[in-house]
Amino acid sequence: MRKFDIERARKETPGCHHVLHFNNAGAALMPEPVIQGLLDYTRLEAQMGGYEAAEYESKKLDNVYRSAAQLLNCSSKEIAFVESATRGWDMAFYSIPFEKGDTILTGMSEYESNYLAFLQISRKRGVHIEVIQNDETGQISLEALQNKITRKVKLIAITHIPTNGGLINPAEQIGEIAKKNGILYLLDSCQAAGQISLDVQRLNCDFLSFTGRKYLRGPRGTGILYVRSSVCDSLEPPFLDLQAAEWTSVDQFSISPGAQRFEQWETNPGAKIGLGIAMDYALSWGMTVIEERVQALASKLRTQLSDIKGLRLRDLGLKKCGIVTFDLIGIEPSKVKDALAKQNINISVSMKRYTRLDMEARAIEAVCRASVHYYNNEAEIDRLCNEVQSLSVTK
Ligand SMILES: Cc1ncc(COP(=O)(O)O)c(C=O)c1O
Repeated sequence: MRKFDIERARKETPGCHHVLHFNNAGAALMPEPVIQGLLDYTRLEAQMGGYEAAEYESKKLDNVYRSAAQLLNCSSKEIAFVESATRGWDMAFYSIPFEKGDTILTGMSEYESNYLAFLQISRKRGVHIEVIQNDETGQISLEALQNKITRKVKLIAITHIPTNGGLINPAEQIGEIAKKNGILYLLDSCQAAGQISLDVQRLNCDFLSFTGRKYLRGPRGTGILYVRSSVCDSLEPPFLDLQAAEWTSVDQFSISPGAQRFEQWETNPGAKIGLGIAMDYALSWGMTVIEERVQALASKLRTQLSDIKGLRLRDLGLKKCGIVTFDLIGIEPSKVKDALAKQNINISVSMKRYTRLDMEARAIEAVCRASVHYYNNEAEIDRLCNEVQSLSVTK
């Protein structure tokens, strides 16, 4: 494993001197350059005016497209800046012209917001939802996916890394199946971006969405939608505004070229600049370095947690990531979270409704989610485990 400069990581993360933050899958702590970028832009807006500041910093605003294109290995014309992963995902999903009898293939760990959209389109248009079962490791079964391919399948929509566990789905192999069969492929990489390397050419996805605030360490209210150029111009967004289209004559309009058609005009420019800086910052560390560090820390956390009596690790999958889930027999996850918060340790709770198919199949109501980032250190993991152990013993 490569040597990781933990001193730099912690020095550039002011938040880690105040709190033990293991809620990186919720929203990670922003690094200093992102914080500074947000402050500088807010000050500029206050001094110059909102529109004037945006014009003045237009290069910095455009940087978000270049950075996202570099992160994903695509063209900046294939990038849309959006307000959240869900909004990006929705824009892609609702632009697909589903017809009665079409099938959507998805996985057991699909995220609540995505599944709501499947249910809605299924009710409105008579589309079938088919759920691919997991293999024995808990990841999507490629064999089961292959067996479900028919001419009716219009879309494969998969969550890359589920919100409720350490599993990394085999997104590249799924992409090969989608490409071979000419089926649209929509990948929710919300928990993957900033945590593992992403390359849309290798993933073979037509759409990929992610948020800024999680592993990328960007500001809240930011996200990216990638749309492959070969499909982009044939898709009509579910709604338009003057960014997505132009009113060309009294009864005519033309839709903007490229992924910009999935954007909306009004946005938060400071946050947009902040996301660009966050992506550049991740790239300055190198995605392979980040991936290795996060997985090594998570693996240490899993090993130490597994020694605690009465604790059940809940992660599935062959290849695991930085999200570590567990519960303590006899103690509600929300109580564990609250007790840790009193010790200045942040974790989160993943509820059944967020990933209902998976949680119901495993008869789980909720899990504690401790998600590590590269700026966490071994001492923090030791402290987290000691606190969890003390809860387990005393209750
Ligand atoms: C797998 C997954 N997809 C989508 C989302 C939604 O992201 P956003 O809140 O930015 O819309 C989340 C958020 O937790 C998630 O974990």
